[in-house]
Amino acid sequence: MERQRILMLAPEVAPFKKVGGLADVVAALSKSLAARGHDVRILMPRYAEMEHFDGAQALERPLIVRLGGHEAYGRIWQHTLPGSELPCYFIEHNQYFGGPAVYVGPSGNEDDNGQRFAFLSRAAIDFCEQMDWIPDVVHCHDWPCALTPVYMNTTEAERPMGRAASVFTIHNLQHHGWFHRSLLQFSGLPNSVFRSDGLESMGELNMLKGGLYHATKITTVSPTYAREVQTPDGGCGLNALLRFRSSDLIGVLNGVDLDEWNPTTDPHLPAHFSASDMAGKAAVKAALQVAYGLEVNPDKPLFTVVSRLVGQKGLDLLAACCDRLMADMQIQIAVLGTGEPDLEHSFDQLTQRHPGRFGSYIGFNNQLAHLTIAGADCFIMPSRFEPCGLGQLYAMRYGTVPVVRATGGLIDTVEPFDEEQGTGTGFVFNQATADALYYAIGWACATYYDRPDAFRQLQQNGMAGDYSWDASAAKYESIYDWAVSARQAAFV
Ligand code: ADP
Ligand code: GLC
Repeated sequence: MERQRILMLAPEVAPFKKVGGLADVVAALSKSLAARGHDVRILMPRYAEMEHFDGAQALERPLIVRLGGHEAYGRIWQHTLPGSELPCYFIEHNQYFGGPAVYVGPSGNEDDNGQRFAFLSRAAIDFCEQMDWIPDVVHCHDWPCALTPVYMNTTEAERPMGRAASVFTIHNLQHHGWFHRSLLQFSGLPNSVFRSDGLESMGELNMLKGGLYHATKITTVSPTYAREVQTPDGGCGLNALLRFRSSDLIGVLNGVDLDEWNPTTDPHLPAHFSASDMAGKAAVKAALQVAYGLEVNPDKPLFTVVSRLVGQKGLDLLAACCDRLMADMQIQIAVLGTGEPDLEHSFDQLTQRHPGRFGSYIGFNNQLAHLTIAGADCFIMPSRFEPCGLGQLYAMRYGTVPVVRATGGLIDTVEPFDEEQGTGTGFVFNQATADALYYAIGWACATYYDRPDAFRQLQQNGMAGDYSWDASAAKYESIYDWAVSARQAAFV
C-alpha cells in the first residue's frame, strides 16, 4: 500500500474537544492510519477551553482564507495528538471559534454556524496550499466540513487542491446545516452550485446536501446505517440523493481506541480487571455506586447510560418506564448525560423519587463516563437510530453487557443473546417503545439473578470481541485508493 497524504478535517477531535463519538473516531482512525505508515494531519478549529492544548505553538504566518469577495485571517496553532506524533493543526478565529462550544459560536446564535463552518471548509483548502502540502485525500466529517468537496470541484478546479480526492463520512445524517442562500455569496462558491442537484434545498442552502453531491466517495459509520440512509425512514430527506450515489457509498464500522478504553490500564478507574480476572470490576462498581449516591451493594444489577440526551438516543423511553422498573425490579440505574432540558429534568426528578436506587449526573465528564461504563453490569442504548454507536463497544470491552435496540450500528456490533446456545453479546430488542425497553431490561435482570453463568458468559463473549481499528483502517485505506483513482480518472 502506498503511503497516502490524508487531511482529516473535523469540527471536534478528542481529547481536545469532544461533543460525541465523532471526536473519538477522528482521533482513533487518524492514529491507526498513521501507525500504518500514512502521512495524516488533522485540522480543526481552535475553541476556547480545549483539553490537552498546553504546549501548542502558533505558526508565525497568518492563514489567509479566501471567502466571497473578502479575505479572512486566521491563526494556525500546531500540536500533536496525545499518545502519538501525529500533527494536529487548529485554526483560530475569535469571531467564529472564540467560545468553548462547538456547534454554537461566541454570539450564542446558531445562525452563525453557516459562516463559521463555511470558513472552516474554506480554511482547509487555503491551509494546504499555504503549507505547501497537497494531500491525496481530504477526509471530511459531517456537515460542518461539507463545503470543502464543493470548493474542490469548483473554485479549485484549476488549482492544486482540485486534484485531491475527497471522502465524506456521514456520522449522523440528521444534521444538515441549512442556511439562508446568502451564505453562498459569503462562501465565494459560484452560483452554479445552487441547484437541486447541489446545495439548494427548498430555496435554502443545505451544506450537507452539497457535500454529498460533490464528495468523490461517501462513507457511513456502519454497513447497516449505509443501507438505512437510503430508505425514506432513515434518509432524513436525503435518501433519494444517497440512492443516486449508492455506487460511491460504503459503510465502515467504527473501532475503539484500545489504549483509551482498556480495563487493564484505564487511569480513570480505581481498580483494573480483565476477562481472565474480573475481581477488580467489583471495586469499580462500588466506586460507581458511591459516585451516583446509590446503595453500595455488589449484588444489585446496575444499569447505566452515558449519552447525549437527545431524541435520537431514545432515552425518553427509559424515563417513561423508570418508575415501573423501580417498582418491579431489584435494580439500580445511573445516567450520565446532557442535552434536552426536559430529559435532564426527568432524570433529576427520578433521582429525587428513587434515592439510593436511581442516580444521575447532568453534564459532560469524561472520567465519570469511563467509571459509568466500566463499573456497570449493563449499559442501555435504546436508540431510535444509531449510525454506529461507541458506548456499546466501550461497554463490551469492560464486560458490561449492552441492552440495545436493533438499529444501525447496534445491529452490526451487538450479537443478540441466544439463551440456548450461550452465544451473543447483549440483550437486543426491536420496537422503539417504553414497553419493549422495559421487557429487555427485565430479561437482563432475570438473567443476572437467575442464570448468573449465562450472564458471565455474555460478559466474556463481549470482552473477547475484536474492536480494534485495524480492520476498519484497512478499509479506509482502500476507500482512499478508490477515491484517488476516481479523481485521477476525472482528469484524464
Ligand atoms: P454520539 O456520537 O451519537 O453521541 P456515540 O455512542 O458514538 O454517540 O459516542 C458518544 C461518545 O460520547 C462516547 O464516547 C460517550 O462516552 C461520550 N459521551 C456522551 N455523553 C457524555 C457525557 N455526558 N460525558 C462524557 N462523555 C459522554
Ligand atoms: C455520530 C453517531 C454515532 C456514531 C458517532 C461516531 O454522532 O450518532 O452513532 O458512533 O457519530 O461515528
